[in-house]
Amino acid sequence: MEKIVLLALVLTSLLFAKSATQICKKCHPIIVEEFEGSMHKNSSIYDDAIHKAVWDIHPLKAKDNYVCAQCHIPNAKNEEEAKEGITCVSCHTIKNVEEHASVNKNVYSKDKKTFYSTEAGREGEKVVYKKESSLFGMNKSSVGSPYHDIDYTNEKFQNAKMCLGCHSHRQNSNEFMICETSKEGAKNKEENCITCHMPKVEGTTTTIKKTQKHSFHGFAGARKNPQLLSEYVGLDFKKSSNGFEITIDNKAPHDLMLHPLRVVELRVNLLQNNNITQLKRHSFVKVIGNEEGPSMPWLANRVLVDSMLKSKEKRSISYETALKSGDKIEVQLGYFVVNPKALKKLNLEENEDAKKFTILKQQHFTVE
Ligand code: HEC
Ligand code: HEC
Ligand code: HEC
Ligand code: HEC
Ligand code: HEC
Repeated sequence: MEKIVLLALVLTSLLFAKSATQICKKCHPIIVEEFEGSMHKNSSIYDDAIHKAVWDIHPLKAKDNYVCAQCHIPNAKNEEEAKEGITCVSCHTIKNVEEHASVNKNVYSKDKKTFYSTEAGREGEKVVYKKESSLFGMNKSSVGSPYHDIDYTNEKFQNAKMCLGCHSHRQNSNEFMICETSKEGAKNKEENCITCHMPKVEGTTTTIKKTQKHSFHGFAGARKNPQLLSEYVGLDFKKSSNGFEITIDNKAPHDLMLHPLRVVELRVNLLQNNNITQLKRHSFVKVIGNEEGPSMPWLANRVLVDSMLKSKEKRSISYETALKSGDKIEVQLGYFVVNPKALKKLNLEENEDAKKFTILKQQHFTVE
């Protein structure tokens, strides 16, 4: 009985709710809260100052042709919706991904009340919520959602190919590939974009049907929650005849960083006789540009430097610093989301997120 009253309350309050996300919040509060802090939610020029900074100097801005919409504010029909960024409904109604040379395209289903999802063991199911019968028969065994239907049969949610409409690649008008995520990470159920970037974390999926865990909707990445990805980067230390070697193991099935603005840096500090010495820093970047040097993506026609850590690569860096027993080595692998050399051009010199160095992985070693 209590459940029926609760449900009636929820359904009534839905009528007065503002955006679709506010509706989802009634029954998926944990997921919505995580999502509010994610870069998917904050992907518009209203919330992402770095995205805005690049758009502000983009040649298409003068023509008011916001081509970024396709991925940064999909399906938004007005400014109010644009402020929502990427929405729950957009993602959960991706039916298919069309592959194209310049940029892929999401095919959305027309039915905005049936959501695609995936759950181990339910791959063949389509859950249709029958209002009349279930409203009054609501008990522990009832399935489905009283707000929407669920379709678990879309294979692209099982192998993460649904992420590739926006994340696969992009060419500029010179037919030059400005960024590319290897498809390697969207091949199977066992390890893919979803298992790494949306790991299972504590807390229930819905308030109606309690579960121990749910898929993290804060989308761990370079801007938000990078600590959830540090397990996919390994650091190792080995003494050599004239110094030592640090090995970085990138366990991701794509370049460690993907956006051309990023710079990865290896920092090593040596603690010897109570003195801390900062050793030479090593950067890993993919710099794009043209005959005149580094450039913004729309002007690029070549790769100038590519020292980025590649998919599943183990890279060793040598240091010619003599070590003795008892010395301690502190190793940090981190990154800048905006190449410090591009801060000025983008007017981001005052932006803390753009300037800060984020440590992805840190480890200490003691020389034997
Ligand atoms: C009135 C409550 C209610 C509202 C509102 C609601 N849901 Fe649900 N949703 C549920 C329930 C209950 C389930 C679990 C169904 C099951 O496991 O059989 C569910 C399941 C889901 C699933 C599939 C979960 C899985 O098992 O993989 C998705 C995706 C989903 N909801 C998305 C949304 C989105 C997006 C919104 C907002 C537009 C929303 N829901 C609004 C109750 C609700
Ligand atoms: C509708 C397009 C779209 C889809 C579909 C999409 N993304 Fe994204 N994703 C984006 C955009 C745009 C950004 C960058 C937002 C920004 O920084 O302004 C982004 C950013 C990210 C980031 C970086 C977050 C950070 O904090 O740096 C990760 C990780 C990510 N997406 C993973 C995924 C995964 C996994 C999937 C599939 C489940 C997916 N995305 C599906 C458009 C999309
Ligand atoms: C094909 C889909 C797509 C289109 C179109 C697109 N982006 Fe993005 N954008 C992404 C994805 C995916 C990410 C996240 C990549 C990552 O974190 O490596 C992203 C990230 C960014 C970032 C980094 C933001 C951050 O949080 O640091 C900037 C800047 C950016 N995009 C600018 C633009 C601009 C400007 C346009 C339009 C001229 C545009 N993008 C068009 C998919 C797209
Ligand atoms: C084995 C785990 C793993 C898998 C699988 C994986 N990634 Fe990643 N991803 C990482 C790690 C590690 C990083 C780097 C750490 C960070 O960005 O905080 C990363 C970073 C990213 C970023 C941010 C890069 C940037 O430059 O801002 C995006 C976007 C992303 N991955 C998307 C994807 C997509 C899309 C897929 C599926 C095709 C995928 N990842 C598969 C581990 C993984
Ligand atoms: C970038 C794409 C994307 C966006 C945006 C997104 N989801 Fe999801 N969601 C997924 C994927 C992929 C899964 C399946 C993950 C898995 O393997 O369990 C999922 C799973 C779910 C589930 C089932 C969770 C579980 O633990 O099994 C629910 C419920 C859900 N989403 C609701 C929402 C709501 C509500 C929003 C908006 C606040 C939202 N999603 C936004 C991609 C997205």
